[in-house]
Amino acid sequence: MDLKYLLITIALEILCVVANGNSDLVFQVERRKTNLSGIKDHDDRRRGRFLSTVDINLGGNGLPTQTGLYYTKLGLGSPKKDYYVQVDTGSDVLWVNCIECSRCPRKSDIGMDLTLYDPNGSDTSESIACDHEFCSSTYDGPIPGCKAETPCPYSITYGDGSATTGYYVKDYLTFDSVNGNLHTAPQNSSIIFGCGAVQSGLLGSSNEEALDGIIGFGQANSSVLSQLAASRKVKKIFSHCLDTIRGGGIFAIGELVEPKVSTTPLVPNMAHYNVVLKNIEVDGDVLQLPSDIFDSGNGKGTVIDSGTTLAYLPDIVYDQLIPKVLARQPGLKSSIEEQNFHCFYYSGNVDGGFPVVKLHFEDSLSLIVYPHDYLFPYKNGMMQCIGWQRSVTETKDGKDMTLLGDLVLSNKLVLYDLENMAIGWVDYNCSSSIKVKDATTGVVHTVGAHNISSASTFLIGRTLTFFLLLTAMLNIFVTRF
Ligand SMILES: *[C@@H]1O[C@H](CO)[C@@H](O)[C@H](O)[C@H]1NC(C)=O
Ligand SMILES: *[C@@H]1O[C@H](CO)[C@@H](O)[C@H](O)[C@H]1NC(C)=O
Ligand SMILES: *[C@@H]1O[C@H](CO)[C@@H](O)[C@H](O)[C@H]1NC(C)=O
Ligand SMILES: *[C@@H]1O[C@H](CO)[C@@H](O)[C@H](O)[C@H]1NC(C)=O
Ligand SMILES: *[C@@H]1O[C@H](CO)[C@@H](O)[C@H](O)[C@H]1NC(C)=O
Repeated sequence: MDLKYLLITIALEILCVVANGNSDLVFQVERRKTNLSGIKDHDDRRRGRFLSTVDINLGGNGLPTQTGLYYTKLGLGSPKKDYYVQVDTGSDVLWVNCIECSRCPRKSDIGMDLTLYDPNGSDTSESIACDHEFCSSTYDGPIPGCKAETPCPYSITYGDGSATTGYYVKDYLTFDSVNGNLHTAPQNSSIIFGCGAVQSGLLGSSNEEALDGIIGFGQANSSVLSQLAASRKVKKIFSHCLDTIRGGGIFAIGELVEPKVSTTPLVPNMAHYNVVLKNIEVDGDVLQLPSDIFDSGNGKGTVIDSGTTLAYLPDIVYDQLIPKVLARQPGLKSSIEEQNFHCFYYSGNVDGGFPVVKLHFEDSLSLIVYPHDYLFPYKNGMMQCIGWQRSVTETKDGKDMTLLGDLVLSNKLVLYDLENMAIGWVDYNCSSSIKVKDATTGVVHTVGAHNISSASTFLIGRTLTFFLLLTAMLNIFVTRF
């Protein structure tokens, strides 16, 4: 091989590495406003999902409500078309409504036109047959009765009983890759996602939450994050900052350089993002709790879930926490509003009148929850309501679960470092920016906040997430095809 040819080859290889190398992605984040019962209904459905991992007898949790809804816009196929999908850290698979779907919504009340994905309308679409490696690894083994050319099925059932069923396809995903300070360029990668043919329940009807689909940011190999990481497009690290005060926020995949974030280990082999909570401190007093109250296992443990709005504690924790939270204000006139919200008349500055709550985690990581985060104004600010909730659930296992949602996570930069199996956070101004490092070039770029109108770019994490009824639905589906 002559030298010139060798140099060209090396140059091409370097170019390929740069083009395909790890990059940082940004997502614009939008948060929707909602009312009290909306929040509760939303979380009820969400909890249904968690429970359902423990007790499949769940479902049937209520009606559509509008809740803290986040979405993003992403491009699929070639030529690329845009799809609006909810972003959810509590689920894994990306799916969009497909051309075969007769009952899928065509327009969202949020304002955007919805698009059905048509495999035949994309030059780069490939079908994923049931004997494809992705299919067997998703189902933990070969698909019973799989015949060549039969599409690999998927089926997801949500806590509220609504479901999406379809088949996997492979096509190009186009996303915003960070290539400068506050600057991005489109990049693409071939990924496998669900083509939703049959939607039932809320997903099959037009309602104000209607979107094209859902993108899960879970840990499973089937998630877009894992697929991008497997094709060396990204590191499995992302962070979000949800600004509940102004709306919008920051959401980026990539190695976080600034701010510095301390972390606590993720409990391994869990479907969700579980951490080890050690104790809770209010006004300098540590709550006196049984030593095993926060143990993981048997449906217990502490789950970090940005798709849940409030925070849910076992009874024994709740019963000690609330009196301590209210201890500085003995004369409050309290009442129960809209279902289970403990509210009271209070017109002063809540941060002056109530204590901070500190949650202490393994590896000395603390989460400080300020009164303005765990209390929220009600009745035009005449009243304040407590966001902490009892983890009221139908199974005895789920009852001991601690579920920490946006109530404690918002206005913080939350880092999910799956490369090191750790999660962490730091108080942060979600209207500002963060710095992420390009893993290939080592160049550090600034990624800013976005606060887009709902007719444009991104919503993250709706809230009903789901559990997979994969094996149960599988046979039915294969038969139908
Ligand atoms: C809250 O929102 C839900 C769903 O949009 C609606 O049905 C309900 O009437 C609202 N409640 C109040 C008190 O506005
Ligand atoms: C993917 O990106 C490459 C390189 O930027 C580009 O040439 C190609 O057209 C893109 N493909 C799609 C489907 O967008
Ligand atoms: C795509 O085209 C093929 C061949 O024309 C047809 O059999 C198939 O049903 C089409 N698929 C969809 C989803 O329209
Ligand atoms: C996920 O992918 C990794 C790396 O490809 C592999 O080692 C692991 O076994 C996969 N896990 C499952 C559950 O398939
Ligand atoms: C947060 O950051 C934004 C943008 O940099 C800035 O305008 C705002 O003043 C900051 N807020 C606080 C409370 O520091």
